[in-house]
Amino acid sequence: MSGVHHLPWWKQVVIYQVYPRSFADANGDGIGDLPGLIAKLDYLKALGVGALWLSPVYPSPMCDAGYDICDYMDIDPLFGNLADLDLLISEAHKRGLKLLMDFVPNHTSDQHPWFIESRASRANSRRDWYIWRDQPNNWRASIDGGSAWSWDEVSQQYYLHFFLPQQPDLNWHNPRVVEAMHQVLRFWLDRGVDGFRIDVVHCIGKDPTFADDPRCLAGETMVRINDQPYSHEVLRGLRRLVDHYPDDRVLIGEVNIRSTAQVAAYYGASDELHMSFNFPPLDAPWDPVVFRLCIREVKGCFPSHSAWPTWALSNHDNSRLRSRYGGSLRRTHAAAVLLLTLRGTPFIFQGDELALEDTQVTAQTRVDPGGRDGSRAPLPWKINAPHGWPGKTPWLPFPPDVSTLAVEAQEAIAESTLGLYRCLLSCRRESEALSIGEWEELPSHPQLLAYRRHSHSDERIICINFDQVEHAFPLAGQWITQISSDRQSEKELFKGTVAAEQAVILRRRENHHEQ
Ligand code: GLC
Repeated sequence: MSGVHHLPWWKQVVIYQVYPRSFADANGDGIGDLPGLIAKLDYLKALGVGALWLSPVYPSPMCDAGYDICDYMDIDPLFGNLADLDLLISEAHKRGLKLLMDFVPNHTSDQHPWFIESRASRANSRRDWYIWRDQPNNWRASIDGGSAWSWDEVSQQYYLHFFLPQQPDLNWHNPRVVEAMHQVLRFWLDRGVDGFRIDVVHCIGKDPTFADDPRCLAGETMVRINDQPYSHEVLRGLRRLVDHYPDDRVLIGEVNIRSTAQVAAYYGASDELHMSFNFPPLDAPWDPVVFRLCIREVKGCFPSHSAWPTWALSNHDNSRLRSRYGGSLRRTHAAAVLLLTLRGTPFIFQGDELALEDTQVTAQTRVDPGGRDGSRAPLPWKINAPHGWPGKTPWLPFPPDVSTLAVEAQEAIAESTLGLYRCLLSCRRESEALSIGEWEELPSHPQLLAYRRHSHSDERIICINFDQVEHAFPLAGQWITQISSDRQSEKELFKGTVAAEQAVILRRRENHHEQ
């Protein structure tokens, strides 16, 4: 691509979410680790992604799979050590891959020294690093759905936690907390990380009146509804810090509010988040009407040339896209085309490039108290057991069809899901229209979703058929099928129909030597 060098890298790449404990295990303890990930960087480079987001690898009692941190400036021995992380950064950079860490600012572990001090007595100097009250209100927590307040026997007050009782919320109104967390960011930025995914960043500011919230009576949890002006002030501080570093370091927020307009507000006046996740498309069923609305809403809330959207159809908190869309491989492939051809930065959750489905857990194998184990299963690398996980049995059971879907089984097959992802990623990299161009909806049969991506010198048309039957999609002019989700009729003249659950990327026929 030419003429795009002035754009920050994070607008031009596809980001891959690594869930480290399930990615690759080098030391054979059944839990993925940093050396395991380093050994697979060539796989990620060959896939064609441009950046990795690493879910938390910090020291943690693992009540919430590492989102309960007891030291922000170290690596949990389960995953390796700081030298491994430094090596990961340099090996990733050698391959042109950026590395993002997960920053969890809303809460620590209850085993963090700050909280241990804070709860020691009301007079402790770290008491107001957390949020203590004599009386609870009606706020509800996520994961277990219970009260967001827990009673502390020793100091005889309640502390606030938007998640598990083992995850007390920090008090960001305390300037010492702000400074301590700024220091955490500097620690990693100085080591060379390229940015952060910020966990539940909209939760940082709390309603200063601590009034009951009627929505909690109706079953909502604070994580879905908390939206306070103070979070924006905190974000502006984080942004100023990050902007002092060279090379376009990036802040990507997890704003878990299910409203695209509210999500967009967290970009501020280009002085808060660079990008945020937007969850309505991840919640959407396999339905063109719902997707059309989600995409139109994004277009409305993220006008061209200002805020830049993101797209994610799976992550470690939700059922995988293939499982949510009913298990069909054709749909899964069509969804890959959708994810990788919209305007904005797409996120691939590890294993979606293999069409993994959720693993089945039983009462014996269940790990997550929030019931989110399904999408967190280990990645199968090899066809034969133990599927590239030598040593102890992995911490969660493998997903279904483990041999057929293993990387080794798919690698050599163009029609495989992995082959399709590689092809889509390379097509996106080479097309200015697809990577950074405008998005414009095209008229189509209601069961189709059709759009045009275009830049000044490049153009593609994408059509996704959500239906179980073929539909006509007539177009003026002559078009070539560049990629088809079922790999049929590629490089051939497009005949004006899209098969059941097929998605196509079309480009204009350039000369008469093409068919
Ligand atoms: C985010 C994470 C989730 C975690 C929660 C608390 O939503 O994605 O896994 O449980 O925050 O940190």
